[in-house]
Amino acid sequence: MIRIGKQDRVFVLTGAGVSAESGIPTFRGVGGLWRNYRIEEVASPQAWARDPALVWEFYSMRRRVAAGAKANPAHFALAELEQKLAERLFLCTQNVDNLHEQAGSRQVLHMHGELFKSRCDTCRRPPFADEAMYEPPASLPCCDCGGKIRPHICWFGEVPFELEEIFGALDRCTVFVAVGTSGVVEPAASFVAQVGGQGRTYYVGPELPANASAFDQCFQGEAGKTLPGLFVSD
Ligand code: OAD
Repeated sequence: MIRIGKQDRVFVLTGAGVSAESGIPTFRGVGGLWRNYRIEEVASPQAWARDPALVWEFYSMRRRVAAGAKANPAHFALAELEQKLAERLFLCTQNVDNLHEQAGSRQVLHMHGELFKSRCDTCRRPPFADEAMYEPPASLPCCDCGGKIRPHICWFGEVPFELEEIFGALDRCTVFVAVGTSGVVEPAASFVAQVGGQGRTYYVGPELPANASAFDQCFQGEAGKTLPGLFVSD
């Protein structure tokens, strides 16, 4: 049980594990995406420069899987927490699916981008909603400026979105909860270490993450079974 007092500010960081029970594969471990794909071939600026069709094939596949997925009890539990805490909850996800929003969460910071958005790789046109699948032999999307339209995703070697806002929220939070993330990808893996001395830190997931020793307490279990009923607010 995690007790939330009237003065507490809660930072929740979610990873692929929170969507696992919705049928979206995680990245590492058995059945993980990185078992079948090489990161440097599909998720890096170099991959985009070398073979944009292969990159779009990968993200089109992920769009197809995510489009058929439904939010699970873990997403709903976090949406309910937002109802109770309003702006005292900061929900930051590494996930690019939209299942938190599907469950009703209104304020979600997608630090690694969003699967159903694209942007131009050349001009400053803002990211836009895009659910299309760009798989060969269809031609790849182009911008009016002549640039190529790319997934709105933070690739390896790129800087995650909104880091300033995230570090501000980490500074202010008094309760930090990471859910379903292996604790190996930076900077998210180090967020727990940024929480001030007064803050309580928790992890939720079936296995201990690589950074388990940084947490005050780990709740071992699947997110969909553990999160509902985990938070008790005054
Ligand atoms: P990982 O695939 O590295 O880790 C998923 C974690 O979820 C593991 O620790 C599992 O134990 C846990 N897990 C599995 N099933 C679960 C369940 N039902 N409930 C709770 N937890 C469960 O995924 P992330 O840590 O999210 O980045 O990966 C971080 C980043 O690496 C991703 O955002 C992605 C990836 O490469 C980019 O693509 C930029």
